[in-house]
Amino acid sequence: MRELLPAANPAMSDAELHEAYAWPTPVDSSRPWVRANMATSVDGSISGNGGQSDSISSPADKQVFRLLRATSQVILVGSGTAKAEGYGPAKTSADPQPAIALVTGRANLDTSSPLFADATTRTIVITSEAAPTDKRAAIAEVADLIVCGSTGVDLPGALRELASRGIQRVLCEGGPHLLGDLVAAGCLDDLCLTTSPLLVGGQATDAKGNEHDPGRILAGPTGLPNGTKLALASLIEADGSLMARWAVSR
Ligand SMILES: NC(=O)c1ccc[n+]([C@@H]2O[C@H](COP(=O)([O-])OP(=O)(O)OC[C@H]3O[C@@H](n4cnc5c(N)ncnc54)[C@H](OP(=O)(O)O)[C@@H]3O)[C@@H](O)[C@H]2O)c1
Repeated sequence: MRELLPAANPAMSDAELHEAYAWPTPVDSSRPWVRANMATSVDGSISGNGGQSDSISSPADKQVFRLLRATSQVILVGSGTAKAEGYGPAKTSADPQPAIALVTGRANLDTSSPLFADATTRTIVITSEAAPTDKRAAIAEVADLIVCGSTGVDLPGALRELASRGIQRVLCEGGPHLLGDLVAAGCLDDLCLTTSPLLVGGQATDAKGNEHDPGRILAGPTGLPNGTKLALASLIEADGSLMARWAVSR
C-alpha cells in the first residue's frame, strides 16, 4: 500500500495504516463517532455480479474492512444488507468483539439465526414503536433491543442511547438506505470509501441471477438539497484500489 495523502508514503506499515484510520474522539459526548465504510466501482456501483459488495472488493479493501471492524465497538447495519450479505456475529482480532447493531423498521427478523445465537457480544436490534409488539418481544429474548422513535426509527436517539452505554465508535457498513438516512439526520462523521478499479454498468446480476441496478452508496426518500460537504482526510492506493477517508464538514 502507498499513501498519497496527507503525506506520500510509498510503503505503509501496519502501524501507519492503523494511524490513518485512527478514530477521532466524538465531537459531542452525547453521541458516538459515526464512521461509514463503503465500496464502489469507478462508475459508482455498490456491487458487481452476484449482488454482494464482495464482488467489488480487493485484498486491500478487505484489510481496511477488517481494521475498521476490529477498532469499532458497534457495527451498524441495515436489515437489507444483513440479509443480502448473510451477516453473522463479527469475528475480529478484538476482544471483546464489536456488537452488530441491526436497524429495522418492520422487525421481521429470523431470531434463530447465527447472528443472535452465535454472538459472543450480544447483537443489538434498533427499531421503533411502530414495529409489531410480538416481534419486538421475540427479539428482546435473543438481542439487546433499542426502541427509538414512534412512527419510524429515530437514528439520532438510538445513537444517543448507544453513547449512554459507553459506545464511542460506531462503524456503519450500510447499506445505502441506512447510510442515506444517517446522512440526512446529520449523524455521519466520516466516510471510508474504497473505489475499486472496475466498471459495472447500469445492470448487474443479483444473488438469484436476475439483472438489477445495483445502485449507489446513498439511497432513500430524503434528498439532500444542499449537499453534504466532505473534506479529504486521507487517500491510500493499492493495486489500483483507492481508499479514501472523507470527513463530513460541519
Ligand atoms: N458496496 C458497499 O459498500 C455496500 C455496503 C452495504 C450494502 N451494500 C449492498 O446494498 C444492498 C442492500 O441495500 P439496502 O438499501 O436494502 O440496504 P440497507 O439500508 O441495509 O437495508 C434497508 C432496510 O434496512 C432497514 N432500514 C434501513 N434504514 C432504516 C431506518 N432508518 N429505519 C428503519 N429501518 C431501516 C429497513 O428494513 P426493514 O424491512 O427490516 O424495516 C430497510 O428496508 C445489498 O445488495 C448489499 O450488498 C453494498
